[in-house]
Amino acid sequence: EADFELKNVDFSFEGPFGTFDRGQLQRGYKVYVESCAGCHGIDYLAFRNLGEPGGPEFSEDVVSVLAEEFPRQVTDGPDETGEMFERPGTPPDRLPPPFPNEAAARAANGGAYPPDLSVIAKARAGGPDYIYSILTGYEEPPADVEMRPGQYYNAYFPGHAIGMPPPLDDGLVSFDDGAPETLDQYAKDVSAFLMWTAEPKLEARRRLGFEVMVFLIIFAGMMYFSYKKLWRDVE
Ligand code: HEM
Repeated sequence: EADFELKNVDFSFEGPFGTFDRGQLQRGYKVYVESCAGCHGIDYLAFRNLGEPGGPEFSEDVVSVLAEEFPRQVTDGPDETGEMFERPGTPPDRLPPPFPNEAAARAANGGAYPPDLSVIAKARAGGPDYIYSILTGYEEPPADVEMRPGQYYNAYFPGHAIGMPPPLDDGLVSFDDGAPETLDQYAKDVSAFLMWTAEPKLEARRRLGFEVMVFLIIFAGMMYFSYKKLWRDVE
């Protein structure tokens, strides 16, 4: 059992009618690319998904640029000589991962494994609140707690010793929509973005649920009135 409660962010996608905030998802992608992608992959995500309805909804042109400008190239091949080669990303490509495998990822992170973030918002209790809490939860360790090298005290990580150096700080990522360039905003935006990667059909699912409810209410009304009409002369 955890000895703490997660912070609670009021996200736009909460509640039965909640939807993602496009601007927030677009900023969250930028935060991911600039502050997380060096260690964490989002293996399930293809660049073209960034332009699909219900997500960040970048325009087609922007998606191509994002694919091309991603900090890593895509490994492709083999070519005619049997060699693998690197090339810039295109919309159908998945985001190229930071490490070829878990052993390489651990070797680069002092033995700790930076998990793929595709579905982390669904895999961990608290989801986006958990991610937000971790990102904003770095603190000085209590006086009686000794941290091992490469470990950082985090109020919201189970055990409080996390092998991830604080990835965010005020002013680290620039936004062009006037949103605050603060640790708090970055943490909210990237948590919302990771909620979308974990549940890209959230909006469609909610809409369908709503339509089904409306249908059932109308259908129940129709059934009631036809029942009344059919049985009106029966004692
Ligand atoms: C762990 C998110 C940046 C290395 C985690 C966890 C989350 C997370 C949610 C906990 C995973 C779990 O519950 O299993 C993020 C986000 C980042 C970011 C959103 C960007 C804002 C980075 C960077 C590095 C890194 C830049 C490498 C320098 C790690 C490692 C762990 C980890 C090694 C595993 C820690 C452990 O098990 O002790 N990250 N991360 N992360 N992250 Fe990050």
